[in-house]
Amino acid sequence: MKVDVLLGLQWGDEGKGKVVDVLTPKYDVVARFQGGPNAGHTLEFEGQKYVLRSIPSGIFQGNKVNIIGNGVVLDPALFKAEAEALEASGHPLKERLHISKKAHLILPTHRILDAAYEAAKGDAKVGTTGKGIGPTYTDKVSRNGVRVGDILHNFEQKYAAAKARHEQILKSLNYEYDLTELEKAWLEGIEYLKQFHFVDSEHEINNLLKDGKSVLCEGAQGTMLDIDFGSYPFVTSSNTVCAGACTGLGVAPNRIGEVYGIFKAYCTRVGAGPFPSELFDETGDKIGALGHEFGAVTGRKRRCGWIDLVALKYSVMVNGVTKLIMMKSDVLDTFDAIKACVAYKVNGEEIDYFPYDITEGVEPVYAELPGWKTDMTKMQSEDEFPEEFNAYLTFLEEQLGVQIKIVSVGPDRAQTIERYTEE
Ligand code: GDP
Ligand code: IMO
Ligand code: MG
Repeated sequence: MKVDVLLGLQWGDEGKGKVVDVLTPKYDVVARFQGGPNAGHTLEFEGQKYVLRSIPSGIFQGNKVNIIGNGVVLDPALFKAEAEALEASGHPLKERLHISKKAHLILPTHRILDAAYEAAKGDAKVGTTGKGIGPTYTDKVSRNGVRVGDILHNFEQKYAAAKARHEQILKSLNYEYDLTELEKAWLEGIEYLKQFHFVDSEHEINNLLKDGKSVLCEGAQGTMLDIDFGSYPFVTSSNTVCAGACTGLGVAPNRIGEVYGIFKAYCTRVGAGPFPSELFDETGDKIGALGHEFGAVTGRKRRCGWIDLVALKYSVMVNGVTKLIMMKSDVLDTFDAIKACVAYKVNGEEIDYFPYDITEGVEPVYAELPGWKTDMTKMQSEDEFPEEFNAYLTFLEEQLGVQIKIVSVGPDRAQTIERYTEE
């Protein structure tokens, strides 16, 4: 069997959680392969809304195995809060959730270091989620990390050594902090974690594949936030691209099957960093208001703009996307005209490829299409799509060279339309 991968093609918050939940009935296993509680994946069904941070979005549909892979960074305190809230709302997960022993732990001091490094950057700050993501991956790469498996072996010693090292750094930065409450909640989280299955997830996944089981890998963040291919340095600290599923789960590249690339009908970004098609006018405000564009984790206002096909083409390329999924189409229901960025003007020259640096001097070049001016939120099938909406889909497919297989017309699980286009 192959594994399918679903990942974001923009700057995150494309609607990954919703679609993973929708697709879960087709799979036996759902696995997260990177990121951590910087993610906020929202699902809505039966009038309830859930936001997941570290737990895969396959936890609600049927009794599927959900795996937190080795590429993920886990904060025990935040995990405990998330898991307890799910259990309390009638969604037990102890038996179904497996956690890789090789996943790295976010320590309380990682969160403080995140804040200290941001403060030291001043105006150049990344605008991180403040969850300790960068410092935890830094420790992983510099071979100083503490892993989930360490909870079972010499944990106190390993934790004390990492904490002492972090405190040295914080001292050198003259950064004032109080660890008491954070550490208390974190140690409670460590105790809580012990009741879950710690696994060698690379063995587990490959054995499941051998047994003919199907696996859906759930990405976090988006390609434009990838540590290698995103708008560096305004990125997260993991590989959000498809290859991250190989390293973050122990799945060989030739095991990758479908790659679902998910994008919004427009574009958003939260935090600092370049965003060529950002709108600073009332159109941007309108998209933000209609799309409720506020961060699922931090509550921060998301910056809004038109769809950026230069960036999307690049994302399709680096991920090898085989199927596209368009989200939040309904947000554009009332617009007279829809714009799409088809090229960048850099130093007066028009380019249609994603350049090395988009920090400055990149001007979007737009194509304009007529809006569909129709409420799409109750539509059930593609037969109901207005002509102008179909024209928008066709235009995007031609530009991106991949078919759009799923269209989302609202936040609810039920507001999802599969298209039956010829392969
Ligand atoms: P993720 O991080 O990729 O899982 O996305 P988020 O959950 O952070 O952000 C997506 C937001 O859009 C959530 O509030 C979803 O409930 C909402 N959403 C998802 N799909 C649609 C859609 O088709 N239409 C509308 N209006 N909202 C949607
Ligand atoms: P989901 O999975 C949107 C952004 C932050 C910041 C940068 C680095 O919900 O799509 P970090 O805390 O990772 O060091 O922050 O990345 N960011 C996200 N933006 N959605 C996310 O996750 C994000 N995770 C991180 O805003 O600009
Ligand atoms: Mg999100």
